[in-house]
Amino acid sequence: MRRSQGKVALVTGATGGIGMAVVRRLMDDGAKVFLVDLDEQALRAQSEALGDETGWAVADVSDEAGMARAVEAATARFGRIDMGLLNAGIEGKIAPLGELAVADFDRVMAVNVRGVFLGLSLLMPLMRRQGGGAIVITSSVAGIRGSAGLAAYVASKHAAVGLMKSAALEGARHNIRVNTVNPAPVDTRMIRALEAGIRPDDPDAIRAKLVAGIPMGRYGKPEEVAEMIAFLASDAAGYCTGGIYTVDGGYTTGTGR
Ligand code: NAI
Repeated sequence: MRRSQGKVALVTGATGGIGMAVVRRLMDDGAKVFLVDLDEQALRAQSEALGDETGWAVADVSDEAGMARAVEAATARFGRIDMGLLNAGIEGKIAPLGELAVADFDRVMAVNVRGVFLGLSLLMPLMRRQGGGAIVITSSVAGIRGSAGLAAYVASKHAAVGLMKSAALEGARHNIRVNTVNPAPVDTRMIRALEAGIRPDDPDAIRAKLVAGIPMGRYGKPEEVAEMIAFLASDAAGYCTGGIYTVDGGYTTGTGR
């Protein structure tokens, strides 16, 4: 039997680089997967390509009513939610403090923090009623270390770790495990946007600089992050809760090779 055979997963940010790899990995593990993201066309196309064991809903994770509707739609489709993958996130604008607009700060916090808060607030009671579950939040190495020019993103990813810790403590006696996965740069749209945001005239120079700071000397692949997320969401990770799981090529250990 496959590791997560018959389990039901809800994945936010499901049509993005890491989200899509998570969806595929969970389906390989035997799970049914409900995709949540912003773009109806992308959701429909991906769900159709993946087959009958999927469902989808358009929702902005920062919108309370929208997320409530998505969770309702997932339970209506599959009857329960065993795994919550709170993965949607935005990088926001790159600017030093003093130049970062309040509205830009607020938007990053809304998606990356309120979005995770709403996901936890909806899933924890549901999982309590079901007798348990597992939630994995996609934080970042920016949830462990700072990064110049990315104060909002860094604050948001630290906040995601804080939400995870409280949720893990509240969930422990109810058989609900909650963890974060903290990747270093991963080869998706987001890191390319950051490279171009830092240096529009020469994004490759930024890539080279970032890669030089990673002991393994490369970006991660979405599949490598998905592997950790799918493990933590599965019963194989039965004793893992309240943890910060880096997938970072050694980045948070130090710098240099
Ligand atoms: P991505 O940009 O490919 O995917 C993000 C997905 O989230 C997109 O499909 C987007 O439509 C969706 N999304 C954005 N705002 C949303 C909202 N308000 N409501 C619902 N969906 C929304 O980026 P990637 O790399 O797949 O990012 C996934 C997660 O991984 C994010 O939380 C990101 O912060 C985190 N991460 C990414 C790293 C990287 O280098 N790519 C490194 C560390 C963490």
